[in-house]
Amino acid sequence: MSIPAIAIRNCAVAFPGKRVGEEIAVLNNVSAEVAKGEFVCLVGPSGCGKSSLLNIVGGFITATAGEVLVEGEPVRGPDPRRIFVFQENGVFPWLSVRENIAFGLRRRVASERAEIVSHYTAMVGLIGFEAAYPRELSGGMRQRVEIARALAANPDIIYMDEPFGALDFITRLKMRTDLVRIWQREKKTILFVTHDIEEAVQLADRVLVMSPRPATIQEVVEIDLPRPRDLDSPGYLAKRDHIFRVMGMSLRVGEKLAV
Ligand SMILES: Nc1ncnc2c1ncn2[C@@H]1O[C@H](COP(=O)(O)OP(=O)(O)OP(=O)(O)O)[C@@H](O)[C@H]1O
Ligand SMILES: [Mg+2]
Repeated sequence: MSIPAIAIRNCAVAFPGKRVGEEIAVLNNVSAEVAKGEFVCLVGPSGCGKSSLLNIVGGFITATAGEVLVEGEPVRGPDPRRIFVFQENGVFPWLSVRENIAFGLRRRVASERAEIVSHYTAMVGLIGFEAAYPRELSGGMRQRVEIARALAANPDIIYMDEPFGALDFITRLKMRTDLVRIWQREKKTILFVTHDIEEAVQLADRVLVMSPRPATIQEVVEIDLPRPRDLDSPGYLAKRDHIFRVMGMSLRVGEKLAV
């Protein structure tokens, strides 16, 4: 078996509290693995430490205990071979769509760069908008520029922190479908943070469900449903409801919460 793309081993992190000497334990003994080419979602209650965990994996913050190996190597800081896509728009407002997508390709020769940019512009459905500036685009289009830029840089791994959180419902649904299609074609490893359980079940091969703070991985849920996923199918609904129950929530009015 090949080494996992990401191996999180007994990670803990604590942040300083408001009072002197106070420490807030955020993550507690978190262990998980992501296989090469796998799409894994991380869900959990707000404030449990999802972004903190992603930031540890991405090398932006250091764990208080434990270690993270990416492709077998301990993470010591951000690495250009792995790309982050955030909820807040990360596109550069002073660059056009074309220039934004080409951002990570400065070292390529011009003809190659142009070819890569047009490939990903087409993939995210932005043909005809190459010369537009972010202010002339909708939120969903800007997010697609960011995804195209991430893919064009050809990273092995993409980290996404609620990338569709700021989008309206319909755009979010479309972006999810697009992302799955692109991921299937490109065979990237994706670690995707969301607090939206339905989103996680639509996207992931496996969902890591985190507990409230200090968070640990409470359960790993395998989503072995065919893609594209039918959001009305009994299989989808059963997985979704299972995760709701793991998180102590109930969908049925009047039913008692598990916690
Ligand atoms: N740099 C920091 N310094 C101090 N506290 C922090 C820092 N980063 C995060 N925290 C705290 O750690 C906890 C977890 O934050 P984190 O952003 O990881 O949660 P989250 O699960 O991503 O939440 P959300 O779903 O709201 O995005 C919160 O209580 C937050 O206030
Ligand atoms: Mg977060």
